[in-house]
Amino acid sequence: MLEFRNVVFQYDSEDFNIIDGLSFHLEKGEFVSVIGPSGCGKSTIFRLTNQLLPRRSGEILVDGKSIDGRRGYCGYMPQRDLLFPWRTVNENLRLPMEIRGGISRAEMDKRAAETLEHVGLAGWGDKRPEELSGGMRQRAAFARTLLTGSELLLLDEPFSALDFLTRITMQEWLLDQWEQDSKTVLFITHDVEEAIFLSGRVLVVEDTPIRKLHSFEVPAPYPRTRACLTDPKMLELRENLISLLRKEVQA
Ligand SMILES: Nc1ncnc2c1ncn2[C@@H]1O[C@H](COP(=O)(O)OP(=O)(O)OP(=O)(O)O)[C@@H](O)[C@H]1O
Ligand SMILES: [Mg+2]
Repeated sequence: MLEFRNVVFQYDSEDFNIIDGLSFHLEKGEFVSVIGPSGCGKSTIFRLTNQLLPRRSGEILVDGKSIDGRRGYCGYMPQRDLLFPWRTVNENLRLPMEIRGGISRAEMDKRAAETLEHVGLAGWGDKRPEELSGGMRQRAAFARTLLTGSELLLLDEPFSALDFLTRITMQEWLLDQWEQDSKTVLFITHDVEEAIFLSGRVLVVEDTPIRKLHSFEVPAPYPRTRACLTDPKMLELRENLISLLRKEVQA
C-alpha cells in the first residue's frame, strides 16, 4: 500500500540527509506505528509521503504507483491540528469532502455530524476552533482526517493532547473503525503502550539520519481489548522497545 524505495531527503538549512536511503513498506490494511526520539525525523517521513516536502531521490509508491503528480491518496493529520480558525468545526469537517467533490451538502453535514459524535464532539459543530480545548481540537482534526475517505491514513500523534481516559477511549474507537473499514494506517506516537495496543507492527527509528526502520511484530491477534497489554509477551515487547528508545536518547 505504501512503499519507500531508497528515499533521500535533506532540509535546505541542514548539511546532511535526514532521510538517507530509506526503504520500507506497508501492506494494504496494516496498522503500523512509528516510534523514535523527538526530532529524529518521524514527521518528515509523513511530509514526504504527502508531498509537503520534495524528496531528493528515490521513489514513494502508494498502491503500487508513484505518488508524483497524484493527489488525494492519503489522509493526513499533522502534529499540530491546523484547523482553519475562520471556519466552524462543521465547516472544517466538510472541507475534505468539498475538495473531493460530488457529495451533496446534506450528505456532507450528515457524515460530519456522525463523525463528530464518534469523537465525542456531538453538538460542537457550530463552534470555532478557538472555542475548543486543545484535546477537543485534536479530536476535531482527527475527525476531519477520517472524512477524507482515503485508504491510507497518516496520523501524526493524533491523541497526544488528550487526557488518559479520552485517549484510551479514542484508541479503542480507532481500532474498531480500522477493523470495520480496513484502511491502511501509519501512526506516529511517543507512547510505546499506545503503539503496541493499536499496531500489528511497530517501526522504530534507530538513528538519525534515518537509513532503516527496525520492525517489530506485535504478538497479539485482533480484535483486541486492553487486556492484551498485560500478556507476558506484550509486556516483554514493551520493555524491549522502551530500552531501545532509551539507548537512542542517551546515545
Ligand atoms: N522546515 C525545516 N527546516 C529545517 N529543519 C527542519 C525542518 N523541519 C524539521 N526540521 C528538523 O528535522 C528534524 C526532524 O524533524 P521531525 O519533525 O521530522 O521530527 P520528529 O521525529 O517528528 O520529532 P517529534 O517527535 O518531536 O515530533 C529535527 O531535527 C528538526 O529540527
Ligand atoms: Mg513529529
